Amino acid sequence: MKSASKDEDKLGELNLGEGFDTESENRVLRATVSYLREEVNKFKRRPLVVCDIKKMIDDKAIIRLPNGNFFLVDVIGTLKGKLSSGDSVVVEQRSLTVIDKLNEKDKNFGVEDFVIIEKPKIKWDEIGGLKDQIRDLHEVIELPLKNPELFREVGIIPPKGVLLYGPSGTGKTLLAKAIAASTNATFIEFVASELNQKFIGDGAKLVKEIFQLAREKAPSIIFIDELDAIAAQRIDIGTSGEREVQRTFMQLLAEIDGFNNLENVKILGATNRVDILDEAVLRPGRFDRLIEVDMPNLEERREIFKVHTKNMNKEKIDFDLLAEKAGELSGAEIHAICTEAGYFAIRDNRKKVSQADFILAIEKIRNFEEEDLKMFG
Ligand SMILES: Nc1ncnc2c1ncn2[C@@H]1O[C@H](COP(=O)(O)OP(=O)(O)O)[C@@H](O)[C@H]1O
Ligand SMILES: [Mg+2]
Repeated sequence: MKSASKDEDKLGELNLGEGFDTESENRVLRATVSYLREEVNKFKRRPLVVCDIKKMIDDKAIIRLPNGNFFLVDVIGTLKGKLSSGDSVVVEQRSLTVIDKLNEKDKNFGVEDFVIIEKPKIKWDEIGGLKDQIRDLHEVIELPLKNPELFREVGIIPPKGVLLYGPSGTGKTLLAKAIAASTNATFIEFVASELNQKFIGDGAKLVKEIFQLAREKAPSIIFIDELDAIAAQRIDIGTSGEREVQRTFMQLLAEIDGFNNLENVKILGATNRVDILDEAVLRPGRFDRLIEVDMPNLEERREIFKVHTKNMNKEKIDFDLLAEKAGELSGAEIHAICTEAGYFAIRDNRKKVSQADFILAIEKIRNFEEEDLKMFG
């Protein structure tokens, strides 16, 4: 997108205003032609292959392609003496001659593009209820990262992996983001199901790079959302897709095992499907602290209503009644109810949301639920 508009600018510059003669017109056309020719050439150019140098042998290099094959290839003159094993380079497709070296930053392409390193800004007071879970997270994630000596002195080993589990929409992702915002640690987040979809054939490599990145940026927290997508028990690993997921999973276990508990990297997972997890992930030294995040109770539902209506322009609301009427609904559904109530007011040309709007919204979300159940149940 960006480059398209830049190109337009470039063409725009070539447009002369008033008073241009044949000669300048000619010049403009020539410039336009050469610019467009260069653009067309971009489409003709063959893409270069990114790969790693395994070993240098005199002026030749053994490279490893992304598909795993090794080749002994030539190196372009200007790079002679400048390469060593481990470097990431680009090679020409046909001859596989090494023609350029990528710098450190480009080397982690893939990981850096895939994970989210930016810190979320969720504050604790944006979470309704879940007090015990928040305290647990504080003790097993935040405290050991901030104060590892304390654990050494007391002589206990904090868990390295913590798993948040429970039904969907109950605030697991929210908790992970809040803990990220409250520690000074680097927060590296990725969704396991996307790992499989976007990095077919490369999931295991990516997992390795994510952990590498976490070490480089320690203290850090690796958050793996929807962990079940790679860590479910596999009944049948016959298909190549399944084998690939299995490889990614094995890499994940190896990486977790590679950490020392007191190293300043913590691993946080979340899943709605703890029942289908391969028990290998739950073994001691892996995700060995489980934190359940269940559906909110009456008191918690009231808190969640308060959170999501805090900035709403509203009449006096009976939160106890709403919490009661919203029985057995999740935090995500309560959030949806509050938005829906706002829409009822807007449709009615009102600036203030009323109690009745909320009650209607609860009914609406409930009906959705029931239809869903009929469809999938
Ligand atoms: N305890 C809660 N307090 C406030 N909002 C919540 C709570 N639980 C869920 N929500 C709302 O539901 C949304 C989805 O929650 P999320 O953390 O993604 O659920 P999960 O990861 O457990 O499926 C959140 O963005 C938030 O708006
Ligand atoms: Mg989630």
